[in-house]
Amino acid sequence: MGTKYWQEFLIPYHQAVDEIVLKFTSLKEQYEKIGEYSPIESVYGRVKSVSSILEKIHNYGVDIESLEENIQDIAGVRIMCQFEADIYEVVELIKKRSDCDMEIIKVKDYLSEAKASGYKSYHLIIRYPVFSVAGNQTILVEIQIRTLAMNFWSIIEHSLNYKYKENIPETIKRRLVNAANAVNEVDREMSSIREEIQNAQRLFGLKSSSVTSIIDNIGYLYKLNQGEKASQYEKIFDDLFAQEDIIQLILLRKELESEVNKIEAEV
Ligand code: GTP
Ligand code: MG
Repeated sequence: MGTKYWQEFLIPYHQAVDEIVLKFTSLKEQYEKIGEYSPIESVYGRVKSVSSILEKIHNYGVDIESLEENIQDIAGVRIMCQFEADIYEVVELIKKRSDCDMEIIKVKDYLSEAKASGYKSYHLIIRYPVFSVAGNQTILVEIQIRTLAMNFWSIIEHSLNYKYKENIPETIKRRLVNAANAVNEVDREMSSIREEIQNAQRLFGLKSSSVTSIIDNIGYLYKLNQGEKASQYEKIFDDLFAQEDIIQLILLRKELESEVNKIEAEV
């Protein structure tokens, strides 16, 4: 099969990879625009080289007629996440568009259980519609979703595999498994830090809304001619605010809210 055959054969694959990379990249940018945390850190895509396709045909004994169905990673997209939990969020994002443009036809979960090599990643094979000069067709695309740390490991392991032509010495294999465990430890540690950061952010939001409510209600008490009560609360609030006692601020907010409700009921 000639160069021209392959060039034409690969046109829809190039288009699919370009489109999907753009779709995920623009999602990431949208999160940033609305000031929300993006589960997508970065996106890469590639079309398998003709030489790798031929190698796979040779190694797996794939029938050239059924190439499109049997080699599922001719089009490949890789999505990197900061944290392991983000991977599942990205999977949900893709599931949601199943009726639209990315129909999931296979899931390979090497996250809950790593491969023997130590490899961790979440793979989806999707069916994707392409509208090109060659007409309309659907093609298979492999999407790999993994953390930055998992990606770091897998790129290095892959280059070693390449170097040793898949005959990595046992000692090095063992050390790669050790390195994979260390990478998992990094991901776990980062995840626990992430939770703490998110809790801190949640607490900060609670503090901010409590302060707003307290100040509003103290002002309201003054308006209701409850000046004495209002100035008592003001004093308490000033102290708690100075001490940065968030828990007591939340309690004060509740107390003030029920106080105001009580007075309103009496009026
Ligand atoms: P191929 O491995 O692609 O022949 O297909 P498969 O049917 O065995 O699928 P699998 O899910 O095992 O692998 C798909 C892709 O995941 C590979 O092409 C690699 O990009 C990646 N992958 C799988 N296992 C490993 C691994 O041990 N190390 C690295 N670095 N990448 C891996
Ligand atoms: Mg494999």
